[in-house]
Amino acid sequence: MADAKPFHWEFTPEPVTREVFRIEGGVPLTGEVPISGSKNAALKMFAAATLTGERCRFTNVPEIEDVRVMAETLRDLGVVVDHPEANTYEIASGDVEWLFVPLEAAAKMRASFILLGPLLARFGQVIISNPGGDRIGRRPVDLHVEAMRALGATIEYRNGYYFATAPGRLRGTEVRFPFVSVMGTENAMLAATLADGHTVIRPAAQEPEVDDLIVFLKEMGAEVERTWPDTIEVHGKRRLRGAEHRIIPDRIEAGTFAVAGAVTGGHVTLTGAPCDHLSAFVEILGRAGVDAECDTAAERIVVDGRALREGGYRACDIRTAPYPGLATDLQPPTCVLLTQASGTSQVHEAVFEDRLEWLSDLNRMGARIEIPDNHHATIRGRTPLHGADADIGDLRAGASLILAALAADGESTIHGAHHVKRGYENIERKFADLGARIARLEERFEEGTVSTPS
Ligand code: EPZ
Repeated sequence: MADAKPFHWEFTPEPVTREVFRIEGGVPLTGEVPISGSKNAALKMFAAATLTGERCRFTNVPEIEDVRVMAETLRDLGVVVDHPEANTYEIASGDVEWLFVPLEAAAKMRASFILLGPLLARFGQVIISNPGGDRIGRRPVDLHVEAMRALGATIEYRNGYYFATAPGRLRGTEVRFPFVSVMGTENAMLAATLADGHTVIRPAAQEPEVDDLIVFLKEMGAEVERTWPDTIEVHGKRRLRGAEHRIIPDRIEAGTFAVAGAVTGGHVTLTGAPCDHLSAFVEILGRAGVDAECDTAAERIVVDGRALREGGYRACDIRTAPYPGLATDLQPPTCVLLTQASGTSQVHEAVFEDRLEWLSDLNRMGARIEIPDNHHATIRGRTPLHGADADIGDLRAGASLILAALAADGESTIHGAHHVKRGYENIERKFADLGARIARLEERFEEGTVSTPS
């Protein structure tokens, strides 16, 4: 049993090593880039492993900050988390000592809230911090809480924490959401696997990461099925067993590198790429005139950005939506692409209410974008981009500022690299291997200078 961290309410944020990306733009990227495992699948698998006391093994786990935070959060509960080799984790939740997920976990990573369902279902109680909102929206967790209450739990909210109890077992039921929530679906499904009876979840999220979680739960012996595109049914079991699972590739990382090839006018091959999880996005690349060839069998996507040099891309309107619609996490990279398209593109961010503000940084790099309200933006292209200093506010906007800097003339300094490290494995090395002039440097405030990280 790992040494659980003693109980504490107060939270002192750990100092973050402030790093910047220094980028010299204008280089057409060429070559192959391997796509890592999916962040938004791996985090949920780690939570699912707490549904059993037996050992679970995961491969193709991305080496990213969010995975490290989830591993740390589990260790603080008393769970054994081993990392025998790169991209491989083993988790054994024999007997968990503290059923307490503190603010510091939630402050570092919202996804820690996915521990609510499995810990409540297995141990009958948990105290978990309200994750609060972030730069992309208010992001309440009311649907998660209501789902647990529907499954028979009692949940009280005090001082920023949810106190959840379910003496005996949770009870199978119909969990009806007013709209689709990815982690809401996953939390309800995880809890229902150990509940007494039959649970129906709808509308259930259809994201590939949810289906990957279903595959793993079945490997653990759970009775869970997607019985309709938007319906998941679960027959609860008394206990589940340990299992092994290979995490699916990260479609958001793949989309990000596809745009990199297009906006630098390069020729990039994504290997280990989940073609069939990217149909809405690839359809938009096609409408914009980006030559993107998907080979599902070989898990390869070849992006040829020649059209950039031959007059640029075509403007097109986009709207984000739950899967199989265009992923909201691919809206920021797609906006960078649309700055290199001739004509006017309308952007409708329909999932989160604060995910367009970062576009003002693109305007400072030479783009022409209007943001009439917090769900709509108008991009007028094509506009050459130039290097600039920018501050990253969140993971996907951060990666997209890197894309803009790679496409821009001149040098950019992008502050807040730690945001990007949360969700992209070795991003600067992968870009450098494609020929990009990029470095991650430590920022030292007192002298206002930067130096190469140790
Ligand atoms: C998941 O977040 C992903 N995170 C997000 O990726 C992704 O953007 C999002 O799904 C949508 O695809 C992880 O998987 C860790 P939602 P989640 O619940 O589950 C509202 C990234 O960059 N809502 O589907 O939190 C919510 O505010 C991240 O990797 C409620 O109102 O998203 C939003 O407007 C960013 N009440 C909408 O629903 C609730 O209880 C959809 O959110 C829950 C959600």
